[in-house]
Amino acid sequence: MNTNRQRELVVVPGPAALAETAARRLLSRVKHTARGAVCLTGGSSPEGLYRLLAEQPWRDEVPWDRVHWFIGDERFVAENDPLSNMGMARRLFLDRVNAPRQNIHPIETATNYPEAAASLYVDELKSFYGAQRLDPARPLFDLVLMGLGSDGHTASLFPHSPALEENERWVVGVAKAGLEPFVPRVTLTFPALASSREMLFLVDGSNKRGVVRRVFSGEDLPARRAYCDGDLVWLLDRAAAPEDQHQHAL
Ligand code: 6PG
Repeated sequence: MNTNRQRELVVVPGPAALAETAARRLLSRVKHTARGAVCLTGGSSPEGLYRLLAEQPWRDEVPWDRVHWFIGDERFVAENDPLSNMGMARRLFLDRVNAPRQNIHPIETATNYPEAAASLYVDELKSFYGAQRLDPARPLFDLVLMGLGSDGHTASLFPHSPALEENERWVVGVAKAGLEPFVPRVTLTFPALASSREMLFLVDGSNKRGVVRRVFSGEDLPARRAYCDGDLVWLLDRAAAPEDQHQHAL
């Protein structure tokens, strides 16, 4: 597989179509794998997708026993805190479909500091992957979901953060978030997130249109730096898509 910086753009009418399209893509990535791995994201844009996965027909379609669920970044709060990203995924679908416990891989936030949580998560990812180094021909994930913050951040990779330059470590602690909620974070780095058959950005709402335009025009924002060893796909709803991108509508 070649590292992909060439993005495919898909524009759908609104949030409901965004959730449906994302569910379809997720299913097609995990349906036939012997052991699937999906890296989830936090924020509001995946909420519709997560709700949908707990409903029919998706609920019966996803091979829950064979799919493992990771998280691309976590706020350093307890998992039952409303701010927790994995906590949200659990509430909206994982707990509701009774996904096997051993298939859910949260970032451990009951440690003393984010770097300790990062190092535990690296161990967990490496043991799941079965190797110490990522091989672009054998991606860690089948699908990585990504969001886009109004400042251009993605995962917990904020503008000007040293984490943006990380090329070796798979996961790092982020002492200061660049945007609310201002709690420390733990985030996968670009090379770890890139190790996927597909990276799927989910972006909706007119309040995102400005930052989408900035990313697409080539400004050096974190989301612009994201790349993928497999397919790099941006799924936008019409409100978030700059006018000149509407020809990519489904
Ligand atoms: C987080 C997220 C973050 C999010 C963006 C977009 O923990 O905050 O993982 O990267 O995806 O901030 O969030 P919204 O979808 O809420 O705008």
